[in-house]
Amino acid sequence: MRPESPLDFDAEVMRQMGYRVVDALVDYWQSLPSRPLGARPDRTTLENLLNEPTPQTPQPFETVLDEFMQKVLPNIVKVDHPRYFAFVPAPNDYVGALADFLAAGMNVFVGTWMVGAGATQVERVVIRWLCDWFGFPESAGGLFVSGGSVANLVCLAAARHHYPDAITRGRVYYSDQTHSCVARAWRILGLREEQLCVLPADEQFQIPLSALAEQIQRDRAAGWLPFCVVANAGTTNTGAVDPLDALADLCDSEGLWLHADGAYGAAAILTQEGKQRLRGIERLHSLAVDPHKWLYQPMMAGCALVREFEHLRAAFRILPPYLQDKERGAAGIDLCDYGVELSRNFRALKLWMSLKTHGVEAFRQAMEWNLHLARVAEEAIRRLPDWVIVSPATMGIVAFRYAPPHLDSEQVDALHRALVEAMLQDGFALVSSTILRGRVALRMCTLNPRATEADVLETVRRLHQFAMNYPLGEMTT
Ligand SMILES: Cc1ncc(COP(=O)(O)O)c(C=O)c1O
Repeated sequence: MRPESPLDFDAEVMRQMGYRVVDALVDYWQSLPSRPLGARPDRTTLENLLNEPTPQTPQPFETVLDEFMQKVLPNIVKVDHPRYFAFVPAPNDYVGALADFLAAGMNVFVGTWMVGAGATQVERVVIRWLCDWFGFPESAGGLFVSGGSVANLVCLAAARHHYPDAITRGRVYYSDQTHSCVARAWRILGLREEQLCVLPADEQFQIPLSALAEQIQRDRAAGWLPFCVVANAGTTNTGAVDPLDALADLCDSEGLWLHADGAYGAAAILTQEGKQRLRGIERLHSLAVDPHKWLYQPMMAGCALVREFEHLRAAFRILPPYLQDKERGAAGIDLCDYGVELSRNFRALKLWMSLKTHGVEAFRQAMEWNLHLARVAEEAIRRLPDWVIVSPATMGIVAFRYAPPHLDSEQVDALHRALVEAMLQDGFALVSSTILRGRVALRMCTLNPRATEADVLETVRRLHQFAMNYPLGEMTT
């Protein structure tokens, strides 16, 4: 007789557990706009609240779920909240969340064709859709990874592998607006600091083309092997897109690999503004794009796309004896040969189900709304006295600064940092700060399709109110 697993439940109990989770989720979704953004308590508070020894005795699932709802959820800042305008928001899609539940519940393995053929094919289909959006050729391909950091790493590994001397005397180029995960990727890939050429961006926060071309010539003359340019297809700071077409001309004539980090921005190809700004994207050798950012999917969904799918296989494939069985039988694609992960969960399922359920037009409309909201924010800020726009609404991001005559630059920098804190304490909305042209600036990233114009306007109003009260005691709305 089959022994009963100590980890199993009766079928009816399983259903009831699932229904409880769905109820909790739907209540959460419905109430989110009227909830505060969430909290960031201090460490001691959370240690006192949550630390405990390994549980020895069972408790009802409902009790554990309630504990999560009461002790954990309120102590998270909700990145899917409609008024979370900080960093890169993560608005979620319910279909995507259900797909993740399915994929986890059935523990689908997408590492090899031998055991994951159907899921692999779904991943191939979704990757093909993305490649088509970007105008990549038939030879293109890619795979799902955890997010933008790994997507960039995987693409850049392919680039480094493609140039045998890259590791010893290669040099790579990108602007100072590039996400830190790119520098980290090169570090992981074994490039030394001196091999990374970081160019100061121009007034539009784009990579300076002529300085780049000159630098490449100088480096060649000095014995370096220039081999890769990393462009931005939407910087985290301001949404700036580097001139991809012109960069492709340069890279073609110099024989360089052109990669773009489109982790947050590339999906804007579905919109009018995105199409125009991303002109030339079809000429890239590789592209990182995150469905968990602007395609509204639950976290852990990045994509590494390459113009020649085989370049990934050349960079990553290793065949150990214990995987030899996967090589026989019906020929398929083993996605573990194209990236860093062997055990791969079914990340493509969320985007597959989501795109099929909503249709791509719904995504396009949601993204057009996001772009509109950034313009609404910009106009509202322009109307306020003493506020200046540092970078106008670009791909859903606007950056700005409060500069009243009675404060010097240092005080204004401190004020902006204090404003972020004040917003977090207030709990209505959140923006984040960065440094642009050497000074602290605030930025709003309006990627949530559930955000309203009223949300944006009230956020700007509160910022102004806080700023005017600074530094006189408590900052209040
Ligand atoms: C432009 C850009 N690249 C890369 C990343 C890193 O992506 P992830 O956090 O998914 O690793 C981000 C994150 O916001 C980003 O905005």
